Amino acid sequence: MTYTNSSTIPRRTWLITGATSGIGRQLTQQALDAGESVAALARDTRPLVGVDDNPRLLAIDTDVRDAASVQAAVEGAVTRFGRIDVVANNAGYGLFGAVEEATDAQARAIFDTNVFGVLNVLRATLPVLRAQGAGHILQGSSVYGQSAHPGVGLLAATKYALEGLSDALAAEVGPLGIKVTLVQPGLTATAFLDNLEFAPTDEDYDDTVRKVLNTISALPPQSFSDAARIAAGIRLAVQSDHPPLRLALGTVSATDMRGALQGRLADLDSWTEAASAVDA
Ligand SMILES: NC(=O)c1ccc[n+]([C@@H]2O[C@H](COP(=O)([O-])OP(=O)(O)OC[C@H]3O[C@@H](n4cnc5c(N)ncnc54)[C@H](OP(=O)(O)O)[C@@H]3O)[C@@H](O)[C@H]2O)c1
Repeated sequence: MTYTNSSTIPRRTWLITGATSGIGRQLTQQALDAGESVAALARDTRPLVGVDDNPRLLAIDTDVRDAASVQAAVEGAVTRFGRIDVVANNAGYGLFGAVEEATDAQARAIFDTNVFGVLNVLRATLPVLRAQGAGHILQGSSVYGQSAHPGVGLLAATKYALEGLSDALAAEVGPLGIKVTLVQPGLTATAFLDNLEFAPTDEDYDDTVRKVLNTISALPPQSFSDAARIAAGIRLAVQSDHPPLRLALGTVSATDMRGALQGRLADLDSWTEAASAVDA
């Protein structure tokens, strides 16, 4: 496969998963509005009807859990646009319930989409970006990539997985001209909460997990970030010559992650003797 030289392409080409709804939909719209091209992936891209007569949009029905379908989508994108500048690994969903409550099938299913889906996209797109010697990978993390509270253990486990993977990935592909940014929004007004899966419940967790759920359910609309603003924040990072490895979006997200990081540092500092006691 041949790739178009970036100097002949006036605007970026994006490949966005989860492009039909929420943050991915806003990213798609804003890229098109800016004159950029988008390969828009989702299992069902019919919600993009209406924008799909735009020649700079290629909508492809793709399940990120299916490596062959992801590979075909990436090949379709390169055939149409000649290159891929930005890969937005945005598709994902949430699972709510205590760690013990989540069934084995639920736990494996969320990793299948939120982690193995991302790996499928990386395996299909990285050869393209490496051949170009350029590209930017956006990893759809979350405030739950650095912090967690009762009820979000499995969701956070998938986002923490992306964070560790991306720390290594950034160091591996940076020398090849490829940038990596973990996108960490807080609660955002999208279909995410409507699409939440729920674990079966055990009353022992009513005072923790269900209490949190009730608190989240009672939050006023202004507690949720606007998806268009999240997309605009992501675009700022993509336009930067020096994008961050981690992009916190929303004051609550930044505050929660700062608290979690300070807690980790406090543990490190209070237990330095135990740490050094095992040295040879
Ligand atoms: N909303 C929040 O509060 C929030 C906060 C922090 C982080 N995030 C993260 O932001 C990302 C986007 O979430 P959102 O809030 O925009 O949610 P959303 O409105 O529910 O959109 C999710 C998108 O992912 C797609 N998708 C789900 N499973 C898929 C699969 N197996 N294969 C392909 N596409 C799939 C959906 O389309 P189909 O169903 O048609 O496939 C949809 O387009 C997620 O990774 C989420 O974890 C969200």
